[in-house]
Amino acid sequence: MTDHAIPGPADPAFVANEEPARTPVPQPDFQAVVGARYPRRAILRGGLGLAIGSLFGGLPAPALTREQGADGASRLLGFEAVPVSRADTAVVPPGYRVQVLLPWGEPITGTYPAFSPDNSGAEQAMQMGAHHDGMHFFPLAGSSSEGLLVVNHEYAEPRLMHQAAAGLELGSFDVPLRGDGSRDPDQVLKEMHAHGVSIVRIRRAEDGQWRPLRDPLNRRISALTPMLFSGPLRGDPRLQTAYSPDGTRGRGTLNNCAHGVTPWGTYLTCEENWRYYFAREQGAMPASLSRYGVGPLNAWRWHLAAANAGEEAAQYARFDATPRADSPQRDFRHEPHAFGWVVEIDPFDPASTPVKRTHLGRFAHEGVVFAPVREGEPVVLYSGDDSMFEYIYKFVSARPYHAATASGSLLDEGTLYAARFDSDGSGEWLKLAPGANGLGPENGFVSLADVLLNTRGAADVAGATPMDRPEWGAVDPATGQLYFTLTKNTRRSVGQAGGANPRAENAMGQIVRWREAGNDHAAMTFAWELFLLAGDAESGRDLRGKPLDAANLLANPDGLWFDADRRLWIQTDISDEVQNRGAYRPMGNNAMLAADPDSGELRRFFTGPPGAEITGVVTTPDQTTMFVNVQHPGASTTAEEFAAGSLASHWPGGGESVPRSATVVITREDGGRIGA
Ligand code: FEO
Ligand code: CA
Ligand code: CA
Repeated sequence: MTDHAIPGPADPAFVANEEPARTPVPQPDFQAVVGARYPRRAILRGGLGLAIGSLFGGLPAPALTREQGADGASRLLGFEAVPVSRADTAVVPPGYRVQVLLPWGEPITGTYPAFSPDNSGAEQAMQMGAHHDGMHFFPLAGSSSEGLLVVNHEYAEPRLMHQAAAGLELGSFDVPLRGDGSRDPDQVLKEMHAHGVSIVRIRRAEDGQWRPLRDPLNRRISALTPMLFSGPLRGDPRLQTAYSPDGTRGRGTLNNCAHGVTPWGTYLTCEENWRYYFAREQGAMPASLSRYGVGPLNAWRWHLAAANAGEEAAQYARFDATPRADSPQRDFRHEPHAFGWVVEIDPFDPASTPVKRTHLGRFAHEGVVFAPVREGEPVVLYSGDDSMFEYIYKFVSARPYHAATASGSLLDEGTLYAARFDSDGSGEWLKLAPGANGLGPENGFVSLADVLLNTRGAADVAGATPMDRPEWGAVDPATGQLYFTLTKNTRRSVGQAGGANPRAENAMGQIVRWREAGNDHAAMTFAWELFLLAGDAESGRDLRGKPLDAANLLANPDGLWFDADRRLWIQTDISDEVQNRGAYRPMGNNAMLAADPDSGELRRFFTGPPGAEITGVVTTPDQTTMFVNVQHPGASTTAEEFAAGSLASHWPGGGESVPRSATVVITREDGGRIGA
């Protein structure tokens, strides 16, 4: 074995956390959708600008317009817009301050090893993970100056993590290989521990700065942390592995994108692009693998570190999902079934075992958003499957919510639905259960476990509407309306465009919103409209059909969150390889904007450094401190630039430092509420 490292050419299908090509299942009403609600021909003939105004206004005007003054201007948005930025820094409006908190590698637990680019895998297990994403602040006793910050770590950038990568031509998703084509086990261990979730107690000091505390509640959860399965798949033969012959336990959580916060005060972390971690050699594959794009190549190649000293219980070998033994209880052919779930974590109990809640379905979960709970009524939550032509889902619990007794077990019994968005502005929730909507043995679905293990396939059969990559959802705290970002879908053809996904070759994305029938979140029908078409002045339109302008043009909406005042915070994720190029050049670096849900006005509030995505946002209860995540600064560095030692960003350390994902803390100089 040599220490000489060679570049590992990435899986050609794996481009910047993108999705595999998929031709959507033909929709019976696809053509009917087009043109029935929207003037498709006008769009095609006259360009988007002429027709776009008529795309809006499907829902009755909201009753709540109290945030508008006599001049019609929003009273919700009280800050000055920040301009488009290409600078290697974080920018906030005049009167606001920014502090960097808890960057990747910051020690948070164990022996608190200091950050260094050559930290070992074991040291990474005691430090903040990489690529901060969804996040929540759990106040301690309602405090706005002390609490637990819980942060998802979606993935990592191997070339920045390993000294052996220096000087190699590596792209942001490439991994260094050894001379014999294998992977270095400590590099893999470090990447595994850079994934997952961090829980850190933080406090605002007298000087106004937030600092992490050395606290027994601090915890790292990673790709190696033991987990339990609950719900209909618990104990299913298809979860059996050599690690868990009875199919009740799993190891680790992967690609933790966005999150959810349960009404009973726990944290949900969502497994998104998990398929890129698994290799399965060609051959017959069940739909529970093939429908999710599992194949012979994978980007991470963790299984290539197998059979080294120090490997415990096949911790690396399990990422090879090829049947190797005579029984699934002796190999890891089922390991990919252990991912694609929503995982519940109790941040206040560091000894608790995270639980994968299988009734919420298995797909590329972006995040989870709960409808407001009412005593004695079911719990309702929504989740998007972030891949091109995938679906939006809703779960309704079987048992009613009672504040005194509510727990995660409410998520183990209920009904999962997929959304159909019809062309006339109406929509229907399609039940995903045996016997419903074509889900019978003739289509490969006998049990509820069959439906949940291949949720995507079940939604195909049921006739859900293939969307333009559903990302985050948010609920308006006053009206109960649901909002979902649809970040983009450049593979949508003209013939597939219409309804809630009105643009072919959609490079910019949109935001859809809907109201459940009778304002009942458990309802089976809804009415929808578009809230925003992202783009520039030519292609972007706000709720009133007004062209976007210098203060608010944006592309690829992703993160989405309502604050208590009903400001809708919108975060952008223009892929690093196209950022500041071509049609994306006018948008500059990724940004966060705030919108008024009644008027549709929106304004840019924050811009990040080059290459980064802005994702994850929450405030303290008093709304005077906001936490925002900056993920993968500098990822736009090309392989050639990396080899030459020239990085697109050195944020946040500056100088020649390695760029690091981090949380930024935003406060106002006058101590007021953020955004007001
Ligand atoms: Fe992880 Fe869909 O963003
Ligand atoms: Ca996202
Ligand atoms: Ca995204």
